[in-house]
Amino acid sequence: EDFDKLQNRPPVITIMGHVDHGKTTLLDFIRKSRVAASEAGGITQGIGAYQVLVPVDGKSQACVFLDTPGHEAFGAMRARGARVTDIAVIVVAADDGIRPQTNEAIAHAKAAGVPIIIAINKIDKDGANPERVMQELSSIGLMPEDWGGDIPMVQISALKGENIDDVLETIMLVAELQELKANPDRDAKGTVIEAGLDKKKGVVATFIMQNGTLRKGDVVVCGEAFGKVRALFDYSGKQVNDAGPSIPVQVIGLSGVPLAGDEFEVVGSIDIAREKAELRAEL
Ligand code: GTP
Ligand code: NA
Ligand code: MG
Repeated sequence: EDFDKLQNRPPVITIMGHVDHGKTTLLDFIRKSRVAASEAGGITQGIGAYQVLVPVDGKSQACVFLDTPGHEAFGAMRARGARVTDIAVIVVAADDGIRPQTNEAIAHAKAAGVPIIIAINKIDKDGANPERVMQELSSIGLMPEDWGGDIPMVQISALKGENIDDVLETIMLVAELQELKANPDRDAKGTVIEAGLDKKKGVVATFIMQNGTLRKGDVVVCGEAFGKVRALFDYSGKQVNDAGPSIPVQVIGLSGVPLAGDEFEVVGSIDIAREKAELRAEL
């Protein structure tokens, strides 16, 4: 890697936790929109990727957030979320405590070697007992910073927007320690976080760049699919010409639907891309 060309890149933060503990509501508040309310039945189905500007010391700093579903069926998605992420924010409802998908999220974050921040949510509710949640977490080896341990834990109400600034501040502190760098000048490579067929657009895939910059017209191979990037859309649906390190982007132009978790890379020509894709398909 060309050391001179490394530049700071935004942190990628994945929000994980048990079903209905308030992941999407937290992200909603951070984005100041209303995703949870517009989801079918309030259930997150895929990995939503969002780019957010967070004020730090009077300057706006970009952060990328991935939302994951808490339902049992989506374990693979949580595993992928943990893999493409720099920081895991694990949401635990203060009136419910540690539940199976909380444990699973913690295991994925640990397996990926990703720092964990705990958001103890729903502190506005009757029956909320954040102390009990902290005790439960300590008993499985996550000792709160406030008790002399090394895991930051913030007590929040995602619904009321209480202490969300503390969560963002904690995220930025942890991110700063990681010194996240990438080279925006190289060809892009990264991971598919979701993909499917759209009635109007055809094959659509959401990529997240690990390194480099993806540009309209680039040729990519990704899993067993390949193609020339015909159009790029940012998290808000706006068409863009390129996407740099850490940035999630929806890509149009692939020959088939890749699998979430597939790696992608830019190659020199469509022939090379086809060849590589065919080789992979034979494996
Ligand atoms: P899945 O994506 O299905 O795993 O759920 P989720 O973790 O994204 O939870 P979601 O944000 O959909 O919230 C579930 C329910 O809890 C909704 O009815 C929210 O309004 C409610 N909720 C979330 N945060 C809070 C909170 O801080 N206080 C209270 N009282 N309710 C909350
Ligand atoms: Na939900
Ligand atoms: Mg959700």
